[in-house]
Amino acid sequence: MSKIGFIGYGSMGSMIIEGFLSSKVVKPDQIIVSNRTKSKLDDIKKEYPEIEITDNNAYLAGKCHKIFIFVGTSAVKEVIKEMKDELSEDSHITYIAAALTMDNVKSAFPGKITKVIPSLTSRVNEGVSLICHNEKVSEKEADFVNNLFSSISDVKIVEEENFEAGSDLTSCAPAFIAEIFMKFTEAGVKNSNFTEAEVEDMVIKTLYGTANLLYERNMGFEEVISRVATKGGITEEGVKILEKELPDTFNELLKTTLAKNKKIKEELNHQMIN
Ligand SMILES: NC(=O)c1ccc[n+]([C@@H]2O[C@H](COP(=O)([O-])OP(=O)(O)OC[C@H]3O[C@@H](n4cnc5c(N)ncnc54)[C@H](OP(=O)(O)O)[C@@H]3O)[C@@H](O)[C@H]2O)c1
Repeated sequence: MSKIGFIGYGSMGSMIIEGFLSSKVVKPDQIIVSNRTKSKLDDIKKEYPEIEITDNNAYLAGKCHKIFIFVGTSAVKEVIKEMKDELSEDSHITYIAAALTMDNVKSAFPGKITKVIPSLTSRVNEGVSLICHNEKVSEKEADFVNNLFSSISDVKIVEEENFEAGSDLTSCAPAFIAEIFMKFTEAGVKNSNFTEAEVEDMVIKTLYGTANLLYERNMGFEEVISRVATKGGITEEGVKILEKELPDTFNELLKTTLAKNKKIKEELNHQMIN
């Protein structure tokens, strides 16, 4: 019986594979994991001895129809080339390289292709995975991939053209949110007698509580603001500063990341053609 193949056990690959295994959507004896440096698979092999491990992607492709590629963007093409002779019309490739278009991947493998944009938040089974399947992927095959990623996140099916803006809001956002609250923490230290550790602790606990109000209690952003920032009060003065300063900052942020995305995409498309 065909196994499920995972290629690339780096930051994202290890998070996703371990997430699938611990949520039991895949069984250890069903999967083969490949990594260029095979010794990096020693720990997962120790924890799940039934897993098959390799550093030979062609071997994996010969054994698996469902193949997940979690290598860095520039290595995806090379991995598909290595597997070329073993891929068939039953092969279904899922990859996570944000800047690599599905057309680009199609030029190397004209079969069933799914693109997923995962998020670091899947480390705690939270956040959103963005998914797009091409026209060759059947409903059953799409459901299989959607189901796996549902075990570590919420799945949102998107058109490929919405990946860039979507990934800013889901995949890049943990870094943006961390940066925002790091700056808030730094200002807190500067303007108080608390230690940095104390400020960080207060900020993170408040961030977590606010996320809970928004998500678990379904309190919208505006309700949270209006409940805290009473008319004429102190919080309202602070909110006014953010209202003035933030729209331009966030517009510039999104414009910059979208432009960078476009540039990388064009460079990668050029490389694929040549
Ligand atoms: N970080 C994020 O939040 C995020 C979010 C969404 C998408 N992504 C995308 O996820 C992809 C992977 O990112 P990452 O941060 O996980 O990269 P990473 O930590 O560098 O991991 C890449 C892994 O792929 C392995 N690899 C490279 N070439 C290989 C080959 N030919 N055969 C088998 N394994 C090979 C590497 O092996 P070695 O051990 O030998 O180096 C390494 O373990 C990128 O395309 C990125 O754009 C990242």
